[in-house]
Amino acid sequence: MIDSILAALPGDFPWQNQIHWFDTIDSTNTRAKAMARQGAPHGTILIADRQTGGRGRLGRGFHSPAGMGIYMSVLLRPQCPPEALMHLTCAAAVSMCDAVEEVTGIRPGIKWSNDLVIGHRKLAGILTELTLGSHSERVDAAVVGIGINCCQAVSDFPPEIRDMACSLEMALGSPVERAALAGAMIRHLYRMDNALPQREQILTRYRRDCVTLGQEISIAQPGLVRHGTALDVDGNGALLVRLPDGQVEAVNSGEVSIRGMYGYL
Ligand code: BTN
Repeated sequence: MIDSILAALPGDFPWQNQIHWFDTIDSTNTRAKAMARQGAPHGTILIADRQTGGRGRLGRGFHSPAGMGIYMSVLLRPQCPPEALMHLTCAAAVSMCDAVEEVTGIRPGIKWSNDLVIGHRKLAGILTELTLGSHSERVDAAVVGIGINCCQAVSDFPPEIRDMACSLEMALGSPVERAALAGAMIRHLYRMDNALPQREQILTRYRRDCVTLGQEISIAQPGLVRHGTALDVDGNGALLVRLPDGQVEAVNSGEVSIRGMYGYL
C-alpha cells in the first residue's frame, strides 16, 4: 500500500521521506503526538489500515476497521501561538473536500466544525490536537487527524451509526482506490500547510462548503441544550448562532446538530 501511495505523489514531494504506514495502530493521532515528543519533523505523516483506538471529538471513538478507510494524521510544528491556528480544522476540512473531489468527482459538504458529509450522512471526521511547548506559549506540535470511510457497505457500520454514516463507495456506487485518495490527501495537506497564513481565503472557502449555515440547529454543551439559527463562521472558525432571544453567540465547542439531519427532528 505504501508503494502505491508514494506512486501517487510527485517524485520530488517534500514530505515523501516522512510518510509512515502501519497495518494496525492504536490511533495515528496518539502516535503522532508521541513521535512529536521524540522530535519528529514538521510534515510527518502517519497512515494506518486499521486503528484499534481511533479517537474523535468530544471523547468519542472513530470506527476504523481494516481495509475500509483511510486513517491519517499529519504532524505540523508551526512555532506560533495557538491563536494563530484557530482556523486549522477549517483549513483541513476544505483541503479534504478538495482531495475527495479530485479523486472521485464528488465534493462533500462540511458540517461545522469537523465532519465531511454527503447528503445527510457522515463521510469523514477530523480531530485536531495542539500541544504547547513546556516553557512557552507557542505550539510545539499540531496534529491533524482525518478518518475517511472509503469502502464500507451500509452493513459494515456498527448499528449505532448505520443510519448516519456513509462511505465513498456507497456514494459513488463503484470502487474507490484508497492509495490514490491517500496520495491526494497528503498533497492537499501540504498545500494547506503552505496556505495557512491566508486565513480569510480559507474561511471564505469553508463557508462555501459548510452545510450548517442558514440551518436551524441545536447546540449541546455540558448540562445545556439550546436551539438557534447558524448564521456564519467567524474569523476564528467559531459558529455564529442567533439564539431565540435575538442575541448572536460565537460557539466554539460542543455538539452542533442540524435540524432534519442525524436524528434531530
Ligand atoms: C470525529 O469524528 O469527531 C473526528 C474523527 C477523527 C478520526 C481520525 S482517524 C485518524 C486520526 N486518528 C485518530 O485517532 N483520530 C483521527
